[in-house]
Amino acid sequence: MDLSTTIAGVRFPTCLMNAAGALCVTREELEALGRSSSGAIVTKSMTLEARAGNPEPRYHGFPGGSINSMGLPNLGYRAYAELIPGLRKFGKPVVASVAGFSEDDFVTIARVINQSQPDLIEVNLSCPNIPGEPQIGYDPEISERLLQRVRKVVTVPMGVKLPPYLDPAHQQTMARVIRNSGADFLSLINSVGNGLVVDPQRECTVIKPKGGFGGLGGALIKPVALANVRAFWKLFEGRLPIIGTGGVVTGTDVFEHLLCGASAVQVGTTLVEDGLGVFDRLGKELADLLTRKGHPSPSACRGALKEL
Ligand code: DHB
Repeated sequence: MDLSTTIAGVRFPTCLMNAAGALCVTREELEALGRSSSGAIVTKSMTLEARAGNPEPRYHGFPGGSINSMGLPNLGYRAYAELIPGLRKFGKPVVASVAGFSEDDFVTIARVINQSQPDLIEVNLSCPNIPGEPQIGYDPEISERLLQRVRKVVTVPMGVKLPPYLDPAHQQTMARVIRNSGADFLSLINSVGNGLVVDPQRECTVIKPKGGFGGLGGALIKPVALANVRAFWKLFEGRLPIIGTGGVVTGTDVFEHLLCGASAVQVGTTLVEDGLGVFDRLGKELADLLTRKGHPSPSACRGALKEL
């Protein structure tokens, strides 16, 4: 079955890809994504300067999902600007994930990375793991100002990666921000910030940074992810493409994201846990499920969730 999809005019050979952060920091990792069955190469969120990230252990997988406080380890935007032209040879979209510690950082990085011609730029408003730094996506005024400034320097399609919202009022507010910013697509959701996982045996936290607090991913966040995909699909009446992220472990999880309104799906925790073979497995599971249910393509069921 053809699992391809189109987002903001860019064709993806399959609707499955890595989530920013998962196996996508180094040149080697990005090239391995290029050779894999991932439908795109999404970079780690990049900052102005290269960063080693937070002290280890900073990622912990457990049966229900994962917790991380990576602290934005990345090569710095100049290195990604040099790498991106070479990554295009793999024949799939390259998505540059842009972060920063100030509005000016985002604008500087976006301007230069745009010149390296990624196929799309994903503006990450939702890194939960920098000590003392609030998540921008929880401040609508700063988000709007920042996105409007970034929009002015970006010529490729610009998407926004949002944190999870747990209240419809916040989703409505952010939908207005997104509308006013000229975004071409949304990526929903980033990790559920500032969770805490406890090891009762050792009576301690499972990651070291920030006293054990970190972003949650994997199976346990799926209902929150689906709710945000669905809410923004409705707020934009299906007119703004959404990349669904959160809780994708099986082809059925991908299908649920599609039903809620996603045009494509990103895989984070399950990619880290299972490795690059995950894209072949998920593709097969999704194709089998769609065939069994009589859906001709992923896009045929986009947003088609029935309400009782
Ligand atoms: C990190 C974690 C995130 O969830 C994110 O969006 C960006 C960065 C991190 O800690 O590196």
